[in-house]
Amino acid sequence: MDDMLKKFYEEHIHDDEEIRLCVDGSGYFDVRDKEDRWIRIHLHAGDMIILPAGIYHRFTLDKEKYIIARRMFVGEPVWTPHNRPCDDRESRKEYVSKLEK
Ligand code: LAC
Ligand code: NI
Repeated sequence: MDDMLKKFYEEHIHDDEEIRLCVDGSGYFDVRDKEDRWIRIHLHAGDMIILPAGIYHRFTLDKEKYIIARRMFVGEPVWTPHNRPCDDRESRKEYVSKLEK
């Protein structure tokens, strides 16, 4: 469990969207804005978050230290995180070019 949380708190991207439904408890998703500053999103039971492929993000618990968050997929599940820096990945480049438009 600690290992899992440690991994989640390392800044990373995925090649697919990360879709999470918070079923119970709460926790923080941090995402980078255009200027590379963190934005902290507090997720509670009933909230769903969709992180686009290629966005740098991380996750941590809040002081309640409890969350049940279901991950959802379109098609085949791909869980692989790619830790920062991975600016040369196709999914990252695509995300950045979309941001610039
Ligand atoms: C994940 C989240 C926690 O990759 O960012 O599962
Ligand atoms: Ni992730």
